[in-house]
Amino acid sequence: MDACYLRPASRGDIPAIVALERRCFTEPWPPIAFAQFVHATGFLLAIDPTGVSRPGASPADGRLAGYVVTSPAMGEGEQVAHIRNLAVDPDYRRRGIATRLIEASIARYPPGRFDRVRLEVRASNEPAIALYRRQGFTVTGRIPGYYADGEAAIVMEWSLENDTST
Ligand code: COA
Repeated sequence: MDACYLRPASRGDIPAIVALERRCFTEPWPPIAFAQFVHATGFLLAIDPTGVSRPGASPADGRLAGYVVTSPAMGEGEQVAHIRNLAVDPDYRRRGIATRLIEASIARYPPGRFDRVRLEVRASNEPAIALYRRQGFTVTGRIPGYYADGEAAIVMEWSLENDTST
């Protein structure tokens, strides 16, 4: 069992989140993008309390191992929870941390009030697509030229009606 615990993000976490974002993405979000979602109920961090702290992280807080940003989105007559960002520190991958982050953030958008969860992922991002498929997401679309470098996005969705945990 991984030692990380999950907690909501706060404004003071943004420097550490941005540092990890820059390690994980070729087109990283700027700090203001994270600040915009800092009050979203589905913006969660995975913290390793035994980890060595790094610049931007509070020593009392441990080391940031990953984060997920999920928030409500505009749907066509539906209530949609949108997974907008997800990353796990390379040192912490393949331990189930992304799985835990996704499950915990989705749990904050309960069936009855929300209909489905949606996300976009780079067409070439095989690890993330494998992760989402394993979580039960299915491909529902493709958006050519979605990313600044021209790469297409795959749209994946998961119906909250599938949720049997409640
Ligand atoms: N190759 C193949 N399958 C993978 C994979 C990889 N590199 N990474 C995850 N998976 C699949 C596997 O089925 C895995 O189960 P297993 O380890 O028992 O085989 C399952 O997803 C769960 O993986 P998990 O340990 O929860 O994922 P993670 O914590 O390693 O994080 C990412 C996965 C994609 C978030 C991480 O690799 C990452 O941060 N990548 C860079 C940022 C990114 O691409 N974010 C997603 C943007 S849409």
